[in-house]
Formats: sequence, structure tokens, C-alpha cells
Amino acid sequence: MNPRLQVVVGDITQLHVDAVVNAANESLLGGGGVDGAIHRAAGPELLAHCRTLGGCPTGEARITPGFRLPARHIIHTVGPVWHGGDRGEPQRLTACYRNCFRLAREHGLRSLAFPAISCGVYGYPREAAARIAMAECRQALADNPGLEQVLLVAFDESMAAVLRQAAAAS
Ligand code: APR
Repeated sequence: MNPRLQVVVGDITQLHVDAVVNAANESLLGGGGVDGAIHRAAGPELLAHCRTLGGCPTGEARITPGFRLPARHIIHTVGPVWHGGDRGEPQRLTACYRNCFRLAREHGLRSLAFPAISCGVYGYPREAAARIAMAECRQALADNPGLEQVLLVAFDESMAAVLRQAAAAS
């Protein structure tokens, strides 16, 4: 696999990268899962800042400071809720990755960490989501030589295995 792309297991809130990606909801006002973890670790200034953003439609992304996180920035993106796959879910998940990479490029970010967007509460089948993640990361690394490191962060070994399988298969 491309050395600039790595699958890691851990808590994304602990990573010293230019930006961590948050799997948010359209309100951007926090929630459970990785969204809750990021808000807890970043502190109350994050919520105060997010209140000024006016939300984020599914498939789009917004950048904020990282506040108390070790990461300099947070890129909040809203993945699709899985409804069976024929309501534009693959296109929306693809758009999440592309919009996060667009913001990374616009802000000259060199390192970026993604959680498994939509693979928790939003119920996206992990293997299908991992294939999209892998394809979009590869394309972004090819298109943006300034991007030195992309981490796909699994919260547990089983998700890491799914990501590694997707890497090996593509
Ligand atoms: N670090 C890395 N990954 C994490 C962490 C963490 N600290 N906490 C959870 N995860 C993983 C989950 O195990 C899952 O694989 O992030 C992935 C995404 O799961 P969710 O956080 O449930 O996100 P998603 O499925 O996109 O649902 C988004 O959940 O928390 C709410 O406000 C959020 O409404 C939104 C919805």
C-alpha cells in the first residue's frame, strides 16, 4: 500500500495531524460516536464555533480549528445514513471524502486522519464504505503531492481488518 496512506487503530482525538475528520451530523452541534469524542476532547469552544457555521448538508465538509485537540484543524463532514444503497448513499459518501480532501488542499494541510465515516450510527456497510475510502484516498494522494500522510483510523481491530482487506483488494 502507498506509504503515504496507512490504516491505524486508535482514538482519532489523540492524533497529532494537521486535521482530523469528524463524522458529524447536519447540525454540526455534536452527537455520539466519534463526533462526541471529538467535541469532548476539543472542548466547549468547538461547539461555540460550530454554532456560527449554520450546519452542513450531507456530503459536504466544513473546517474549524482543533481547539484543545493535538490536531490543528477539524474537518467536519456529514456522511449519508444507509437506507439500502439506492438513495445516493455511495455518491454522498464519495462526496464526503472529496470535499474533505478539497478543504485539505485549500488550506495546505499535509496530514489528515479519517474515521470510518457513516460506519457506526449511520449503518453504512463497512466493506462498501472501506472501498470508497480507499479509492478516494488513493486518488487524492495522486492528485495532491503536498499531501504527505493520510491515516484511516479504525476504532477497533475488526474495522482495521476491513480497511486492510479493501487496501489489498484494490
Ligand atoms: N476515534 C476513531 N474512530 C471512532 C472513535 C474515535 N474516538 N469513536 C468512534 N469511532 C468510529 C466508530 O467505531 C465507527 O467505526 O467511528 C466510526 C463512525 O461511527 P459514528 O461515530 O457512529 O459516525 P457515523 O456512523 O458517521 O454516524 C454519525 O453519529 O455521533 C453521531 O453526531 C453523529 O449524528 C452523527 C452520527
